[in-house]
Amino acid sequence: MRLLHISVLAVLMVSCGKQGDRPVSYAKQVQPILNERCLKCHGDVDPRGKVVLTSYAAFMNSRTASSGQPLAYPGRPDDSRLYMLVVSNQPNFRMPPDTSGMPQMTGEEAALLRAWILQGAKDN
Ligand code: HEC
Repeated sequence: MRLLHISVLAVLMVSCGKQGDRPVSYAKQVQPILNERCLKCHGDVDPRGKVVLTSYAAFMNSRTASSGQPLAYPGRPDDSRLYMLVVSNQPNFRMPPDTSGMPQMTGEEAALLRAWILQGAKDN
């Protein structure tokens, strides 16, 4: 009986996760991922590509060097440069750069980032 309960719960959790409609918090979920994976090169001091990821405001005010675009378009993760870079499978394009030896985001982290942009990239 207990086993059955556990598997029902597991199925529920997996299906909730897939829909990506649970509200994602920038402050509690997204910023900590950026802190861990990106701030080494995108902090306040000498940020690479002039991209600063230390806060929501810094993130939203940064522009791509290549085309001067915002890093995220609310509601459109697949057009958002920051998301495209972390999920890219092109080694000379993705972030963190392969040459840095730093690990890529996990699938779960990238999914959170995607859901947050999809939900409007809010300062929440
Ligand atoms: C080891 C250093 C390093 C780390 C770590 C790093 N970056 Fe970068 N990033 C760079 C450099 C260098 C550039 C500028 C040159 C380039 O575009 O490749 C850059 C540029 C960028 C740009 C601008 C691209 C453009 O088109 O102008 C974005 C967005 C970005 N990084 C996002 C991230 C994100 C998100 C993370 C964390 C997941 C991250 N970076 C981690 C070094 C790093």
